[in-house]
Amino acid sequence: MSRSVCRLAAALLCSTAAAHAAPSPRPDEAEARAAAVLTQMTPQERRVLLRGYVPYYAPARLLGAPNSAGVVPGVPRLGVPNLTESDASLGVANLGGVMRAGDGATALPSAAALAATWDPALVEKAGAAIGAEARAKGFNVLLAGGVNLVREPRNGRNFEYFSEDPLLSGTLVGHAIRGVQSNAIISTIKHFALNAQETGRGGLSANMAEAALRESDLLAFEIGVEIGRPGSVMCAYNQVNGVYACENSFLLNDVLRRDWGYKGFVMSDWGAVHSTSIREGLDQESGTNAKKPALFGEGLETALASGKVAQADVDRAALRILTSMYRLGVVDRPVKAGEPIDFEANGRVAREVAESGIVLLKNEGQILPIGTATQRILVIGAHADVGVLGGGGSSQVLPVGGAALTLPLPGEPIYHKKMYAPSSPLLALRALRPGSSVTYDDGTDPARAAAAARDAQLVVVFAEQFTAEGKDVPDLSLPNGQDALIAAVAAANPKTVVVLETGGPVLMPWLDKVSAVLEAWYPGQRGGEAIARVLTGEIDASGRLPVTFPAAVDQTPNPKLPGSDRGQPRGDAGLYDVAFDEHFPVEYPEGADAGYRWYDRTKAKPLFAFGHGLSYTRFAYSGLELAGGRTLTARFTVANVGTRPGTETAQVYARVGGVKHLVGWERVVLKPGETRTLSVTADPRLLAAFDVKARNWRVAPGAYAVAVGSASDAPRLEGEVRLTGSRLRP
Ligand code: BGC
Repeated sequence: MSRSVCRLAAALLCSTAAAHAAPSPRPDEAEARAAAVLTQMTPQERRVLLRGYVPYYAPARLLGAPNSAGVVPGVPRLGVPNLTESDASLGVANLGGVMRAGDGATALPSAAALAATWDPALVEKAGAAIGAEARAKGFNVLLAGGVNLVREPRNGRNFEYFSEDPLLSGTLVGHAIRGVQSNAIISTIKHFALNAQETGRGGLSANMAEAALRESDLLAFEIGVEIGRPGSVMCAYNQVNGVYACENSFLLNDVLRRDWGYKGFVMSDWGAVHSTSIREGLDQESGTNAKKPALFGEGLETALASGKVAQADVDRAALRILTSMYRLGVVDRPVKAGEPIDFEANGRVAREVAESGIVLLKNEGQILPIGTATQRILVIGAHADVGVLGGGGSSQVLPVGGAALTLPLPGEPIYHKKMYAPSSPLLALRALRPGSSVTYDDGTDPARAAAAARDAQLVVVFAEQFTAEGKDVPDLSLPNGQDALIAAVAAANPKTVVVLETGGPVLMPWLDKVSAVLEAWYPGQRGGEAIARVLTGEIDASGRLPVTFPAAVDQTPNPKLPGSDRGQPRGDAGLYDVAFDEHFPVEYPEGADAGYRWYDRTKAKPLFAFGHGLSYTRFAYSGLELAGGRTLTARFTVANVGTRPGTETAQVYARVGGVKHLVGWERVVLKPGETRTLSVTADPRLLAAFDVKARNWRVAPGAYAVAVGSASDAPRLEGEVRLTGSRLRP
């Protein structure tokens, strides 16, 4: 079907979320159906559901399954389909590295960009779009929902995660999952839990006291599970407090199932299983090879024969898998590969996310937006003439239309290649400024770039940092001499604007010398257009930082990256590589106080604070009214007092145990002169401490300081509220 026909018939024929929005069976009904079908299965058929394969290494009868991350055999005689799995949160990926032309999918901006929108509805829309594509490509499981908290700014996978805050991360991942699953497919939430760095992820033990864990990383998962109700939870590679996450009965049985009442199934990360840990709470081993024994294959048979595992254990795991399949519509509405996809519509969603997630960090003398009087613009660097960078690893999406540029990194595995989505900021800027001269220098020779900068009225330097799964970056500096390039250009022309395409925070030694900085993250399929539209003020700059940007690595809780002395920096990207099974402890001095809370606690001033982001207009805050009791509600008014339409994200923070906690926010779009009264009620868990003995949240009675503002370090209204002491569960 052609795209235009697809657009006309979208509601009926094409793979959009709406096309599959028929109601799913209620959970109890789903469980009853799952139980009924289970009774008709032989013991062998039940076991089959518990072992997934990498499609390339699957048994012969599954070789026709769509080729991506995984496949789990179903039971065709009973109408139970295979589970067909593809990565990930940022679009439908294609088996890390083995990407064929024609496999393209909409490449969303990174999760950091999604988080910078602070917009749950938009994140849900993005999830619905990529879920629709997964479905249309024949996948009924999307390995999405990455929600590990950003604790380590050098983590190579931060671009796949949302933020450093449990409320922001949990809320957004929940909505992303809801969007994906609106297509009658399963989404995961991952990687459960505390997979905060890539260096040594296969063997390290992430150590944290239970209360701190419950109040931070686990809280992000808890909120995500409540809002998104994912069909599956993916357990992580690492150990948590000395026990591998996929055999961690505390995490899987006690926290997830007993305390949170989770009814779906737990699948392992690929190669993360170390024992036949079905009693510890794992239901399904992922990514095995049919030609080799597997713990949830032959291992399970041996354990059953010896009595270490009972048939009832297998039945329980199979029931959980089947229940999710029935609940989400996987059985009733089977997927079929080759359905048409409305890439045009989904591309618009990708652009909207990129536009909403770009953060204006600095704008001296209101140099941005670029006015029409600026006639000679020079664009420099980062292949801005052809496209925008994306992150590497299993989540890498081959963009629709093919990559604009692919650069393998010498000495690195194939899935660590730099790939640029075909959306050129240079061409987009030219299209928006037809009357101006917009020229390009590739930035490889700083002296030449600086000479060209002297003749320009305004310079836009693009700078990039490639990050990828499996590796962390060795430091927070822009690689490959880009700091020197920016410094040389800014010295030649102070009207320099820097656009960053990075996985997360970077240092900016040239910050005082440049006029403006935009953080564009990895901006995805239509990122070039989004950047140009923000630069020229077609739309407001509306993103807000979901992570703190440190002023120096010494400010971070672990100035030396844990495990970094165990491997060698390798390859062009200077990334670390540590043997997968190396055991070493990782301690978290910040405990529950990840990100901005750590900076608050240590009184360190970061380069840019969590929540920071400038707009092209100005907002006034007034009329704070606080109500207390069991939780707090803040009512206040925000007015657009500038001359342009704009978007404000008003953030509410409370001091809990002396440390600032984000307890809610509201994002509003206001015309000049427009005023809105907003009301934010805190989820009491953000005001509480977790009482391990009582297994309950406890809010201490007393007075709480509250600040409402435009960033974690920019209070605009302050007050105090009294809370009655309470426990959250009766
Ligand atoms: C990653 C997961 C991914 C899986 C399948 C693993 O290496 O950690 O996030 O879903 O591979 O590709």
